Amino acid sequence: MAYKVPFVDVPKQYKIIKEEVLKTIDDVLSRGDLILRKDVEEFEKNIASLVGTKYAVGLNSGTDTMFLPLKALGIGPGDEVITVSHTFVASIAVIVQVGAKPVLIDVKEDFTMDADKLEAAITERTKAIIPVHLNGRSCEMDKIMEIARKHNLIVIEDAAQALGAKYDNKMVGSFGLVGSFSLYPFKVLGCFGDGGVMTTDDEKLVEKVRLLRDHGQKTKTEIVCFGFNSRLDNIQAAILNLRFKYLPQYIKRRREIASIYEKELSDVSGVKTPPAPGTDQKHFDTFQNYVLNAEKRNELYDFLREKGVETLIKDPVANHLQSGLGLSSFHLPYSEQLAKEVISLPMYPELSQEQIEYVIGCIKEFYKR
Ligand SMILES: Cc1ncc(COP(=O)(O)O)c(C=O)c1O
Repeated sequence: MAYKVPFVDVPKQYKIIKEEVLKTIDDVLSRGDLILRKDVEEFEKNIASLVGTKYAVGLNSGTDTMFLPLKALGIGPGDEVITVSHTFVASIAVIVQVGAKPVLIDVKEDFTMDADKLEAAITERTKAIIPVHLNGRSCEMDKIMEIARKHNLIVIEDAAQALGAKYDNKMVGSFGLVGSFSLYPFKVLGCFGDGGVMTTDDEKLVEKVRLLRDHGQKTKTEIVCFGFNSRLDNIQAAILNLRFKYLPQYIKRRREIASIYEKELSDVSGVKTPPAPGTDQKHFDTFQNYVLNAEKRNELYDFLREKGVETLIKDPVANHLQSGLGLSSFHLPYSEQLAKEVISLPMYPELSQEQIEYVIGCIKEFYKR
């Protein structure tokens, strides 16, 4: 089905930067620079300077930017790691994949970790906390870091959805020991496939993760540990360097669209909009996703679909209630409620004013009926 307003629009985005993309690819291939070459290094420098950390390491996915540091830090069987259920499942999966136990807590109204529930979840086995900056909105990092310091816990910030977001004027990904970012195509800064980048100030951790991403190879002939294949492709890094120049523009446009949605939808009875840009001094939100709490959510989805507006209901079942995951002992009332209420609207810089107005008009029409 051809939507009037698709949920994402890769062809439109490509059209805008086509010449530059083709030139970039041609340049990389003409140099023959495919694996861990200068474009990856340049990208790592770009991200470290943006986030404000000493180092960044390019990996093959956002998932691995949490998995490899957990491995490198020796977190595993017998350990507990606290995160939220209301997230993309990868934030929980990485804990399970290293053999540790995920301990899930609830989120607060803005969908980020409820720091007031954190201390009650800490036991003597707790080793780390993974707060998730969901939808481009930062967690309450002052409270989370204070609790982490008090209990001597590692913090790995899942900032997969939040490159460029800030809390109290400080970039997410620079609070914890590790910042973890996804470069999946539909992220604020996406490549043309899978990719991820971790940030940290810890040199030893960087050394270990660099080994783990490349089969433990210290040099071409010296292997110092068993590792994985988790390199960020050089060609993807070159594309990312190209798109990196546009990142401030992408974020600005997302915030503008969020302001328009807010202005037009905040008074519609039946929906609750997320906190608008500039509502408080602490959060600088990048609006990776624009997520509404909506009454009659499933009917709204169907109505919009018929009108040619593609939306997304990402988690109709809370992660801890997914039958195959063995997490049903957690009782998280707000996360369970959100699974029934939330719906994501189209949100990307290439949306036209006409498309935005059309989406708004359709939502108003639905709640007037
Ligand atoms: C919150 C969150 N964490 C982790 C990930 C995993 O990132 P990737 O798909 O790049 O592995 C994602 C990806 O969507 C995410 O949204």
